[in-house]
Amino acid sequence: MRKNIVAGNWKMNLDLNTGIQIFNEINTLITEEVNGNQEAVVCPPFIHISAFTDAIKPGIKLSLGAQNCHQADAGAFTGEISASMLVSCGVKYVIIGHSERRQYFNETDALLAKKLDAALKNGLTPIFCVGETLEQRNSGIYFDIIREQISSAAFHLPSADFSKLVLAYEPVWAIGTGLTASPEQAQEIHGFIRKQIADKYDQNLADSISILYGGSCNPKNASELFSQPDIDGGLIGGASLKARDFVDIIKAFN
Ligand code: 13P
Repeated sequence: MRKNIVAGNWKMNLDLNTGIQIFNEINTLITEEVNGNQEAVVCPPFIHISAFTDAIKPGIKLSLGAQNCHQADAGAFTGEISASMLVSCGVKYVIIGHSERRQYFNETDALLAKKLDAALKNGLTPIFCVGETLEQRNSGIYFDIIREQISSAAFHLPSADFSKLVLAYEPVWAIGTGLTASPEQAQEIHGFIRKQIADKYDQNLADSISILYGGSCNPKNASELFSQPDIDGGLIGGASLKARDFVDIIKAFN
């Protein structure tokens, strides 16, 4: 059985005090209200991560994630953060290949392949993001785009490593726009992604991979999205900055 996961990507938002306050609120609400087996993850900005390390105790339902990592283990890379540094701060997940990193920081599939290798080598679980732009959707090439993103960055992995990935489908046109993909649109791509994995590896592996949806997911639309057969949770931006909304999304699985 694959895991249901809801991860909050805080992006470059919140000062430290507000972040700590929201994190603690999320933690309390999850402990009081979440009664399923779903896993919750918060991905704060790098600089705030170690402030949350102590709050993550064994048995707690909330895990820490990061929004990116460098592909090298260590070295002269001013301003960068390695996967092993994240592990030393109690981080379990790392988002790799978010469309904002692809768009604003020129991250290519070839670079993302190396980042996936670095994350896996250090024992982090990558949340690997794929998704098409509006232009690509409208021109009908979106299946090719998604297939290319997955195969170029991740299909070099042996099955034992690929099985450790979490994937996230985030249509670029749905991120921060209020334009959520319909449950049918999202399911179509999630099913397609699972089929690509089954074709490359095998059906058992494909069935074991959690595939999250991201893009204007909120407490109102989460249940319908998460009830689709191939949608195993969400990667949440704006709504993860409000404890009540984020936990209500997590509770869409209760
Ligand atoms: P929004 O939920 O704000 O649309 O952002 C989604 C996202 O980019 C999560 O990584």
